[in-house]
Amino acid sequence: MATVLITGANRGIGLELTRGYAAAGDRVFAFCRAPRDAANLNTLAASSGGKVSVHAMDVGDGDSVAAAARVVGDTPIDILINNAGVSGGPRQSLDSTDFDAWIDALKVMTIGPFRVAQAFLPNLRAAPGAKVMTVTSQLGASTWPFGGFYGYASAKAGVNKVMQALALDLKADGIAVSMVHPGWVKTDMGGPGADITAEESAAGIRKVIDGLGVETTGRFYKWNGEIHPW
Ligand SMILES: NC(=O)c1ccc[n+]([C@@H]2O[C@H](COP(=O)([O-])OP(=O)(O)OC[C@H]3O[C@@H](n4cnc5c(N)ncnc54)[C@H](OP(=O)(O)O)[C@@H]3O)[C@@H](O)[C@H]2O)c1
Repeated sequence: MATVLITGANRGIGLELTRGYAAAGDRVFAFCRAPRDAANLNTLAASSGGKVSVHAMDVGDGDSVAAAARVVGDTPIDILINNAGVSGGPRQSLDSTDFDAWIDALKVMTIGPFRVAQAFLPNLRAAPGAKVMTVTSQLGASTWPFGGFYGYASAKAGVNKVMQALALDLKADGIAVSMVHPGWVKTDMGGPGADITAEESAAGIRKVIDGLGVETTGRFYKWNGEIHPW
């Protein structure tokens, strides 16, 4: 049994990751911004036989992340998944740019995963062979062939670099760090016309996490296990 921590666990890919780990018998600390409003996650937790507990964490807020770390205490964490994300808002083009939404995207998706990893570092160090996976995006890769999406794409490119550095810093601790593009997924963010369901994406991501090891730390994967180009 692994102990797993997931951010943004109340809907979309995070909810399906939580469901998948709980079904496999793992213990999940499921974090979301508003536990009281997290109806689907609370239903899952209630039927999990204590495998899933629901707690508050806004990954863009340092005090909230610190409070979340106090909730977990000194419990070793085997798998930490930085899943929380925002779209960056509707105005991300050259003609029309919402700079506040851009800053929020950086806070949530670039700085947030680092802040969370840093806050739970003692828990990761206490778990032999611990793993950190950050859900990033193909839009953060230099090979993405379209312009626009300045806020979202830069936040994901930024977190890729942050996680690559973290992988190097944590290698000596035996902690594997990687990033995964989850596919184009039918969630509130991906929309109904996307390629795959959140269940399919989450199942693929769990398999990728299963295969992580410190000898291959720092890699950027696709949800189906292929290596993603940088
Ligand atoms: N769907 C896709 O096609 C796709 C493609 C590439 C990458 N991704 C990435 O996959 C991850 C999951 O996305 P999704 O498709 O499942 O999106 P989603 O359905 O929109 O879910 C986003 C999740 O992130 C949470 N969140 C947002 N801001 C947060 C904050 N400040 N603190 C904590 N949680 C926060 C949301 O919580 P609230 O309910 O409180 O807002 C929600 O649980 C994201 O990192 C996203 O960028 C998705």
